[in-house]
Amino acid sequence: MLKMQAVLVRVPGGPEQLYIGETLCPAPGAGELLVKVAATALNRADIMQRQGKYPPPPGASDILGLEIAGTVVQAGPGVSHWKEGDRVFGLLPGGGYAEYALLHQDLALRTPPYFSDEMAAAIPEVFLTAYQALHWLGQLQTEEKVLIHAGASGVGTAAIQLARLQKAQIWISATAHKHTICQDLGAYRCIDYQTEDFAEVIQEDTKGQGLNLIIDFLAAPYLARNIDSLGLDGRLVMLSMLGGSEVERLNLIPFFRKRLQIKASTLRNRPRLYQQQLTEEFWQNNALHFAQGLLRPVIDRVFKVVEIAEAHRYLEANKNIGKVVINTQEWL
Ligand SMILES: NC(=O)c1ccc[n+]([C@@H]2O[C@H](COP(=O)([O-])OP(=O)(O)OC[C@H]3O[C@@H](n4cnc5c(N)ncnc54)[C@H](OP(=O)(O)O)[C@@H]3O)[C@@H](O)[C@H]2O)c1
Repeated sequence: MLKMQAVLVRVPGGPEQLYIGETLCPAPGAGELLVKVAATALNRADIMQRQGKYPPPPGASDILGLEIAGTVVQAGPGVSHWKEGDRVFGLLPGGGYAEYALLHQDLALRTPPYFSDEMAAAIPEVFLTAYQALHWLGQLQTEEKVLIHAGASGVGTAAIQLARLQKAQIWISATAHKHTICQDLGAYRCIDYQTEDFAEVIQEDTKGQGLNLIIDFLAAPYLARNIDSLGLDGRLVMLSMLGGSEVERLNLIPFFRKRLQIKASTLRNRPRLYQQQLTEEFWQNNALHFAQGLLRPVIDRVFKVVEIAEAHRYLEANKNIGKVVINTQEWL
C-alpha cells in the first residue's frame, strides 16, 4: 500500500493536537477519483471534528477536510467523464487535509482555467450551503428582503453575492470592522450586532413589514428576534447553533399570524444524490457568473499546510472574513 502525508489528530482537543504524519494513501473505488490535493479550505466542522464532537459520516475518511481542489491522478472503476490530469474541485465527506484524497466523480467540478486551485478550494462548502439555503430551503424570490447573519463568514460572503444576483435587498449582521467587505459584496445595510439590536433595525428599516427570509447561524439567542423580524409568509433557515441550542420560552402566535416557516439543515449528512443535484444546479446556474466576476470566493488568508494549527486558531478566534484556505503543495 502506498503511503502519503496528511494532517492527523493525536487525541481530540485543541489545535496543538494537529500534526503532519504518514498514513495510507486511499485507493479509488467505483466512481471515485484519486486527486492530488493542491488546496483545501477550513470549515467550522473541522474544528468540531478535531475536538471529537463531530464524527465523520459512516464510510468517510477520518482525516479532516470537506473540500479540495487539485488534479486527478487515478480514476476508479466505472469513472466515465474524468481522466488523469484533469483539474477538479468539489465537496468530500472527509479526507481533504492530505496529499491525496478521494472525490466522487458526481461531486467533482472542472476547475476553470482562470481559477487558481486556492480559489477553487474556497468555493464548494460555502457556496453550495448558501445556494441551498437561499434557493432550495429559503425559496428566495426576486427583490425580496433577506437578512444574512454572520455576513462576513464564509457562508455569509457567498450568500450575500448569491442574494444580490437575485436582486434581493440584503441586511447582514457582523462585527463592525467586517462591514466594508459586506457592503462591497452587495449588502444594503450592515448591522453591528454588538451595539445594535438587529430586530429594532429591521422593524425601523422595513417600517414594520418585516423580512421575507433570514439565514441564521446563531440559533437560540436569535430565535425570538428572528421571528419578530419576519413578515407575512417569512422563512427562517438555520444552518448552525453557534450561539446555543436551547430556548426557554417561545410564543407560537406569530407563526400562525404571519404563516412562518422554520427550517434547519446540514449539508454533510445529505445523501450523495442530493449533493450531486445541488452541485450540478449550482454550477449550471453560476459558472458564468464566476467567469464574469459577478461571483468570487472571498479568501481571507492562505496558510501553508505546515501552519495548520495556526490556521485553526485563526478561524476559531473569528478573525477571518470569508474563507481560510490551506495550500497543500509543500509537506514536511
Ligand atoms: N448547515 C450546513 O449545511 C452548514 C454548512 C457550512 C457551514 N455551516 C455552519 O455555518 C457557520 C458559518 O460557517 P462559515 O464557514 O461560514 O464560518 P466562518 O467563516 O468561520 O465564520 C463564522 C463567523 O460567525 C460569526 N459569529 C457570530 N457569533 C458567533 C459565535 N457565537 N461563535 C462563533 N462565531 C460567531 C463570527 O463573525 P463576526 O465577527 O461577524 O461575529 C465568525 O467569524 C458555522 O457554524 C458552520 O459550521 C453549516
